[in-house]
This record gives sequence, C-alpha cells and structure tokens, in this order.
Amino acid sequence: MRHDHLITSKQLSRGDIETVLDYAAEIDADPSAVADRHADTLLGLLFFEPSTRTKMSFETAMKRLGGDVVDMGSVDSSSVKKGETLADTVRVIEGYTDGLVLRHPKQGAATMASEFVDVPLVNAGDGAGHHPTQTMLDLYTIRENAGLDDLTIGIMGDLKYGRTVHSLAYALTNFDAQQHFISPESLQLPREVVYDLHQQQDGTGIKEHDSLEGVLPSLDVLYVTRIQRERFPDENEYQKVAGEYQIDAETLAAASDELTVMHPLPRVDEIAPEIDETHHAAYFEQAHNGVPVRMALLDLLLSDDTRIGGDSNE
Ligand code: NCD
Repeated sequence: MRHDHLITSKQLSRGDIETVLDYAAEIDADPSAVADRHADTLLGLLFFEPSTRTKMSFETAMKRLGGDVVDMGSVDSSSVKKGETLADTVRVIEGYTDGLVLRHPKQGAATMASEFVDVPLVNAGDGAGHHPTQTMLDLYTIRENAGLDDLTIGIMGDLKYGRTVHSLAYALTNFDAQQHFISPESLQLPREVVYDLHQQQDGTGIKEHDSLEGVLPSLDVLYVTRIQRERFPDENEYQKVAGEYQIDAETLAAASDELTVMHPLPRVDEIAPEIDETHHAAYFEQAHNGVPVRMALLDLLLSDDTRIGGDSNE
C-alpha cells in the first residue's frame, strides 16, 4: 500500500498527469480488466460540504474497482455536530478504511488532515483552495477534445473562489497552454496564484481580461464556472456579480467552430441550456469522465506497485 496524499495539482508533474490520463483511457476502453483489482479495499468518504458528482463518482469508481465505501454521511448526523475536531475524525475513520476522500469548507483542511493519517488522503475540495481530482478529469476532457499542447483556453467566471480554476491553472503550466482568465475585477484570480503562475510559465502563457469578447475567437476551450455564492462574506457583493458572464448560442456565434465548452458543474445560469445540444458542449461528457479518471487515480494511490504524486508537503 502506498501512503501518498493528493492535496493539490501543484504536486503533480507532467509525467504524473500523463500516467493518470493514459491509465484512465485504458480503463475507459475496458473497465472489466480492473473490476477485481481492489476487492478488499474500503474507501472512507468525508464530505463536510454538499457534493453530487465528486462523491458519487468516487463511490462509483471504488465499486467498479471491486471495492466499497463507508460514508460519514451529513455533518448534521455525525459527531462533528458534537464538536469533534477534523483531526480526530480523520484519525478514527482511517482505522476503518484504506484511503480517505475529504471535502471541507476550510481552505487548507486537507493539508492539515493529511498530517494526522497514514492512509492516502485525497482532497476533494478545500474551501476556495484546490480540487485536484476535478483537474484530472478536466485535463482528460481537454486532451480528448482539443489536445493539451498548443492549447488556447479561456477560464471564465469566479476565479477568486473557484477551487477548480486554481487547480486547473497550476496543472496547465505543465503544458504548452495559453491561459486567458476572464472575470469581473472583484473575482479575479488571487494575486498569489497569478504570481505562482508567472513564476512557472515566465508569464508568457497568462493573460487576464474583464470581457470574453476580444478573446473568444482565439479559444480552443472555454471553461465556464459558477459564481461561488456560498463563499461570499456578504450577499450584497454576490448580488453585484450574479448573472454576469453568461453564455448563450448568440455568444458562441463569434467562436471557432471547434470550440469546446466545459464546466465543472453544477451550473446555475452561466451556460444557456440551448448550448447543451450543440457540438460545443462537453460538460456532461466531462462529468462522466470523472469515473475512469478517479478509478485510475484510486488504483495508483492505493496500489504499492505504482507511484504518482511526489511530495505532498510542498
Ligand atoms: C465544483 C466544486 O465543488 O468546486 N464542483 C465539482 O466538484 N464538480 C464546482 C462548483 O461547485 O462550482
């Protein structure tokens, strides 16, 4: 059993990413080949925040590898309600399981929790921080639709609080990708993320914009995100930006015919439903890719014959 944690996409090299994506493609082509690989494995699911896709696709992935899950259930029905600390909760549940998947509203929670456990811990979203497994399925979808090198991508919406954006932006610095960040000024990428991206890519691959219009025709991929209402300290601030940066069929008239539209989901009103039926829409395929990608990741993290992820304590 390997004891690596997956906390941020920063810990993954290009080689690690390619290993996961290649393996996910193999599994996608023939899932039956790995159907019994983890027959005795139990994965602990600890979701302190709402989730549909991430939790259910981890559960599906573990079961499709022959294993099973134990689920803490809702915070309201667990001992967290009695005041138990996260450190105590993870230490108890690691004793029942072979790996943990944690989603928590506090940024940094996964790093902290990983210091208390020996089984692999996967960050399934820590507040406005990171969401590395979403990034792997995003990269898989980008690779299938547009390719990861010589890529021009627009990432639009809530870049401040959107953890999927932070993880994706770091991971893309491993590839020849031009990243255009499109948002209102109040929801721009955190300055420390911009600083890091500039360090990693000499700044040549990163541009910030307040409008989609000028950049849309050059894009291979447009990654749209939801305004993260639950993270706004003040509802009035949310109301000021709610409803901005929506796209519909008319918007896409100016796009390349080859444009791939992605979204980590759930969407609220950022993408008009009329786009769903067009050849641009890849967001449901993207969500489905969560299963083979998480099967590949779980197998690599839970097996002792393979290694990815380097040092999670960066
Ligand atoms: C995202 C998340 O939880 O960060 N959802 C997901 O995992 N697919 C995106 C979001 O909630 O907007």
